[in-house]
Amino acid sequence: MIVGPMLDEWYPVGIFGQLDEAGRKTMLMGEPIVVARNGNGDARVTDSTGRSLPVRVRYGHVWTSLGDPQKELFAIPEADQPGRRFVDVGVVRVRCSPLRAVENFLDIAHFPFVHTDILGAEPHTEVQAYKVEIREDVDEVWATQVQFYQPQAAKSASGGITTQYMYRVAGPTSTVLYKTCPPKPSEWDVITLFVQPLTEDLCDVWPWMALFDDDTPMTDLIHFQQTIFLQDRSILENQVPRLLPLDPGMEMPTRADLTSVAYRRWLKRHNFTYGAQLVAQ
Ligand SMILES: [Fe+2]
Repeated sequence: MIVGPMLDEWYPVGIFGQLDEAGRKTMLMGEPIVVARNGNGDARVTDSTGRSLPVRVRYGHVWTSLGDPQKELFAIPEADQPGRRFVDVGVVRVRCSPLRAVENFLDIAHFPFVHTDILGAEPHTEVQAYKVEIREDVDEVWATQVQFYQPQAAKSASGGITTQYMYRVAGPTSTVLYKTCPPKPSEWDVITLFVQPLTEDLCDVWPWMALFDDDTPMTDLIHFQQTIFLQDRSILENQVPRLLPLDPGMEMPTRADLTSVAYRRWLKRHNFTYGAQLVAQ
């Protein structure tokens, strides 16, 4: 298996606050790795030969790369904003392509059918027009002016609201969602999906949040997000084909899929193909 340019990107491999000196054995793109905390309290990641890999600790997680990252880990300025609660949601293992996990997170059309009475509800199933672009200066995919009616948009929402969304693809398996913040309308809640590619069709998904919500207990915030993602897992594990097709026309795009089309185009442009299917089979 040739990993290609995705080798040089950053990936999440664990929650920093949960590391100990014994370390956590895991895998990155088929390579066994150990993520540990050394005596100084710093994170350390080693591969199967004992080689130390590059490490960053950001957004509650440890990040590493099997290759030689040419870019610094992407910025989330909200992570340094006073007053936010930072939520390490934990890990959900999903038997699907890491790229499929990201693509599903970018899709709003499934809300009424998969997250019924939470993130969507019939008859509010229509996806309104929104904007999608690849921002060349930062080399990221952005979808803006997305809106959707939600019965329970967040733990802090009381009753249904029309929620505004922005989606951002900051790395091949890292995506950031900005959504209406019910208790603080001038700000966005930040909900991320950081995906660790274990193999091409198996991943660990690490959601993380930076919210304005002083009231909801931490366990309820975690439980709310885990409930949502477990609903997604059953969909993701049944998608066919298992790998994400990157050739146009292999899956018929609709207007609601514009973000997905841009994401696939961006992956293809960078030759980010680990977890992708390139030719119809
Ligand atoms: Fe979902």
